[in-house]
Amino acid sequence: MDPYLNHSGKMENMASLNSANSALHFETEPNYGNRISTNGTLGMTQTVQPDIQKTRKISEPGPTSVDPNGFLVVDNVTKVYPTAKGPFVVLDGINLTINEGEFICLIGHSGCGKTTLLNMVSGFNTPSTGQVRLQGQPITKPGPDRMVVFQNYALLPWMTVTDNVYLAVDSVYPDKPEVEKREIVREHLAMVGLTEAADKKITQISGGMKQRVSIARALSIRPKLLILDEPFGALDAITKEELQEELLKIWSDHRCTVLMITHDIDEALFLADRLVMMTNGPSAKIGEVMTIHFPRPRDRARIMEDPEYYDLRNYALDFLYNRFAHDDDE
Ligand SMILES: Nc1ncnc2c1ncn2[C@@H]1O[C@H](COP(=O)(O)OP(=O)(O)OP(=O)(O)O)[C@@H](O)[C@H]1O
Ligand SMILES: [Mg+2]
Repeated sequence: MDPYLNHSGKMENMASLNSANSALHFETEPNYGNRISTNGTLGMTQTVQPDIQKTRKISEPGPTSVDPNGFLVVDNVTKVYPTAKGPFVVLDGINLTINEGEFICLIGHSGCGKTTLLNMVSGFNTPSTGQVRLQGQPITKPGPDRMVVFQNYALLPWMTVTDNVYLAVDSVYPDKPEVEKREIVREHLAMVGLTEAADKKITQISGGMKQRVSIARALSIRPKLLILDEPFGALDAITKEELQEELLKIWSDHRCTVLMITHDIDEALFLADRLVMMTNGPSAKIGEVMTIHFPRPRDRARIMEDPEYYDLRNYALDFLYNRFAHDDDE
């Protein structure tokens, strides 16, 4: 039996997790990152345990209403794109309430509308119907209270690490004295372990370092909400784990609220308080929301010794590959 899916078995080390991960359900595409495999899922679906849902309640159906007092509220949001073939309904009736300080991961098959949903939270896109509100205020455009970490880093390659972060700090705090702004930059680069690389150009640093710059830049202006769109998808397994741990530490030190897209169930189980699982598009909805109760601070090895880990993991796999299998994955 595959030790990774064995309820009673323990993972011996992270290396076996990583190799299991890549062997079971990930493939790497250049510049696009680790994706749910379109050809490696058959073996996985065979190991999914179908009785989990019957024996214990692991997740809740997608909400049909919101808490009007929630920190971030996605209130009955629908997104329709006009296309040459007529209106294309991407998202249909999305309701989600996120509490202040929560860490939420969003998972779903490619093309179901995850980025579309995040773009409406960041303000780069607007709902066709419904509303997204942050602390009661409708979101209509981007703002410094919501910072996005993109998968492709979105840095200015000809500038140094320091200047990329300074640019953001300067645009949000134009009236602060320069020495203070420089100190904010220095502090945030230190937070993500980039002090040594501060004067390097973006073209001279690795992918993991670029993603650190982009996290430092987002955090340097102290957003209320940190939005991450598959931030670690393109990174190697070890760098990815390091950055996951850094992100958790920063989140627990600064208690911002996090909304993050991932294609990696293990990443979501390690990081999130709740995992939002989306159905397939068109007209995608929130299918179910899984609460992840592992105590914090989380220790990866200890979590993986917990039988609950495999129940949650199998449940999410079953959701994605049996109940909401994607055509391309079959
Ligand atoms: N401007 C647009 N006009 C028309 N259709 C669009 C537009 N932007 C996105 N779409 C479509 O909306 C759907 C959802 O796209 P989106 O990028 O939100 O998916 P996703 O879940 O983030 O996928 P991935 O996991 O591949 O990043 C896709 O079918 C996409 O082709
Ligand atoms: Mg996307």
